[in-house]
Amino acid sequence: MVYLDNNATTPLDAAVAETMAAFLREHFGNPSSLYPIGRQVKEMINTARESVARSMGAGKAEITFTGSGTESDNQAILGVCEALPDKREFVTSTVEHPAVQETAAYLEKKGYAVKYVPVDAFGLLDLDALRDAVTSRTALVSIMHANNEIGTIQPIEDVSRIAHDHGVLVHTDAVQTFGKIPLDVEALGIDLLTVSAHKIYGPKGVGALYVRKGTPIRPIIHGGHQERGLRAGTENTAGIVGFGEAARLLRDRIGPDRERLAALGERLRAGIQSRIPKVRMNGHPERRIKSTLSVSFLGLEAEAVLLALATKGIYVSTGSACSEDSDEVSHVLTAIGLRPEFARSTVRMSLGRFNTDEDVEIVLGVLPEIVAKLRKISAFDTEEW
Ligand SMILES: Cc1ncc(COP(=O)(O)O)c(C=O)c1O
Repeated sequence: MVYLDNNATTPLDAAVAETMAAFLREHFGNPSSLYPIGRQVKEMINTARESVARSMGAGKAEITFTGSGTESDNQAILGVCEALPDKREFVTSTVEHPAVQETAAYLEKKGYAVKYVPVDAFGLLDLDALRDAVTSRTALVSIMHANNEIGTIQPIEDVSRIAHDHGVLVHTDAVQTFGKIPLDVEALGIDLLTVSAHKIYGPKGVGALYVRKGTPIRPIIHGGHQERGLRAGTENTAGIVGFGEAARLLRDRIGPDRERLAALGERLRAGIQSRIPKVRMNGHPERRIKSTLSVSFLGLEAEAVLLALATKGIYVSTGSACSEDSDEVSHVLTAIGLRPEFARSTVRMSLGRFNTDEDVEIVLGVLPEIVAKLRKISAFDTEEW
C-alpha cells in the first residue's frame, strides 16, 4: 500500500498505539473521581495537556480537549459569538474547511452578517478585503492556517494584526499545519487555535482548542465541570493520552519530517510535471505545505484516477476528503478560479511521516500510464484543454 492521503487522516504512530494500549489496560478511573485511580487519570490528562500546550507555545491552562477539530472550530466560533452578544458580524474566508464554513452558514441563519474574504488564484487571502470586512461590530475573524485541499499557508500574523487593530478576536484552524510546520501562538498573534490528533499520527475523535487567557468564550456543550467548565462530558481519556504522546513525538520529529516530506513532495511534483502532459498544480508555489499536492489532470474525472490508483494499492483523494461523497465541485478550487471541469479533474496527494522515496517512485512509475489510458477513453476532448 502507498498511502497518500495524510491530510484526510494519518496512521497511528506505533509509540502512540503502545501508550494508548497500556493506558486502556491499566486505567479505567473517571478523572473526575477524587480517589487515587481517578486522580491518576486526571494527572495523565494534564500531562497530555502540557504536551499539546508546549507543541504550540501555549500555557497549559489555555488548552481544552474536545472531540475533534470540527468541534474545536464550532466551540471557538459559536463560543466567542455567544460571549459577545452585541457583536453580530463574523468574518471568514471562501476556502475554509466545512467545520468553519458550515458554522458560518449556521450563524447566517441566526441573523449574523457573515463576510467571506476572497483569495487569489494561489489561494492566498486578500488582506485589503479583510481590512474592509472587519469592523467594530465583528465578534470574531476565523481564517484557516493552511488549506487542507491545496496546502496554501495564510499570513495569519497579518490577519491577527488587522483584526486586533479593530479590537477584534482571531481564531485559526491549524489542523493542517499542526505537526507539519512549527506553531507558536504568540508569533501568530491569534486568540484561539484549533488542532486535531488524527492528523499528527494520533487517534481519531480527539481535538484541542487553544484559548488565550482572558478571551471571552461560552461553552457549547453543557453538563459537568470537565475541562474547567468549557467542555462538559467525561473525557476521552485514552484518546487524550494518545494525543499527548503524538504531540510529544513532534518535538523530535517535526524538523526532520518537514524537510524530508518537502523534498519528497517536490520530487513527486516535478516527476508528475515532467512525465505527464496537461497537468495543473494548484496552490501557492512557495507559501504551501510542500507535502500537499493538488493536481488537475485536465480532461479526466478525478474519481477515475483515484479508482485506477486504488487498484494498484495507491490511495489518494479527490479534492477534499470531506466532500468525497458529494457531487459538488470543491468550493476551494472554485474560490481560486478553477473552471468546474478543471476542479472535477483534481486529485489531492498528501504525504506523511511513513512515506518513503520508494513510494514516490511507485506512483511515478504507474501514474503516467494510468492518465494516458484514461485520456484515451475520456469523453472530453483533451486537445482543447
Ligand atoms: C482544515 C481542517 N479543519 C478541520 C478538520 C476537521 O478535523 P476532525 O476530523 O478532527 O473533525 C479537518 C479534517 O479534515 C481539516 O483538514
